[in-house]
Amino acid sequence: MTLPSAVKIVEVGPRDGLQSEPAIVATATKVELIARLGKAGLKAIEATSFVSPKRVPQMADSAAVLRAIERRPGVAYPVLTPNLKGFEAALAAGAREVAVFASASEAFSQQNIHCSVAESLARFEPVLLAAKQAGVRVRGYVSCALGCPYEGAGPTAAVAGVAGALVDMGCHEISLGDTIGVGTPEAAKRLIEAVSARVPVARLAGHYHDTYGMAIANIYASLQCGVSVFDASIAGLGGCPYAEGASGNVATEDVVYLLDGLGIETGIDLDALIDCALWIGAALGRRPTSKVALAKAGARARPR
Ligand code: HMG
Ligand code: MG
Repeated sequence: MTLPSAVKIVEVGPRDGLQSEPAIVATATKVELIARLGKAGLKAIEATSFVSPKRVPQMADSAAVLRAIERRPGVAYPVLTPNLKGFEAALAAGAREVAVFASASEAFSQQNIHCSVAESLARFEPVLLAAKQAGVRVRGYVSCALGCPYEGAGPTAAVAGVAGALVDMGCHEISLGDTIGVGTPEAAKRLIEAVSARVPVARLAGHYHDTYGMAIANIYASLQCGVSVFDASIAGLGGCPYAEGASGNVATEDVVYLLDGLGIETGIDLDALIDCALWIGAALGRRPTSKVALAKAGARARPR
């Protein structure tokens, strides 16, 4: 079994992590979070989303965040855009990379973006066209890839179909979302095998929420299938406003600890990441959920 020698982590904390926070987080805190993540070595930081502020009030300051961030060379700051309106606003605020998000489940698609899966794909066509003209890269998400809060686990063929449609439209990478964190390693492997018949594994990313504590195991299983891009959220922040009870993404520091242990290159400084996790935890008034951040914080606090 050959594991990838290097892995790219897409940090989704400022977007997926913060979008469900009940109290509005100050724009300056979001901007500082993104700066700290960049300093820790993250090369892709999903900064915010251009969605309806009535639906996701926490992301209402998306243009202000994107305009205020200090852009580090070699770092991408993608943003979510559900439709052309969101894309145009993102472009005006300086976005150079965006992501569209579809679902493998009809019920989740209706709840999340108020349209069917087919309608969502039709909405993305003009986004992809406009992005191509503007020279903007587009990532595609497929939510509920391992289970849906309304429909349960669907067929892997449905996930492969949506992923393939997004690639055919021009998405450079497909992130397979275990939105509610119900997946287990063998299910993740079966999913990747099914989807890679339609989309090369080099273009797949794993987006695992950690609701049942399986995210690290799912990442290890995905590495064994050749996946080398993983989404993660600093301090394990997050959830989804349309998937009640879903916890945050796998914590970035837990993923980096795993990859460091496997000798897989990430370019990320684990100590700086842990500082960042403790800092954002303090800013939000709670401790990180990440085991690695808590263990390291405990070790630092113990007298020598
Ligand atoms: P809609 O509700 O279907 O209706 O919007 P609409 O298109 O008729 O628009 C309704 C209102 O939203 C109108 O304003 C529009 O102008 C406005 P009003 O007339 O009521 O004042 N609007 C917008 N405003 C700002 N930016 C826009 C935009 N588009 C319309 N882009 C829409 C459709 C998708 C916008 C809406 O349903 C929405 O914003 N939903 C929220 C989706 C969301 O952010 N979900 C969470 C992120 S996805 C996720 O977390 C999963 C992921 O992490 C992967 C995983 O874990 O699986 C990615
Ligand atoms: Mg998510």
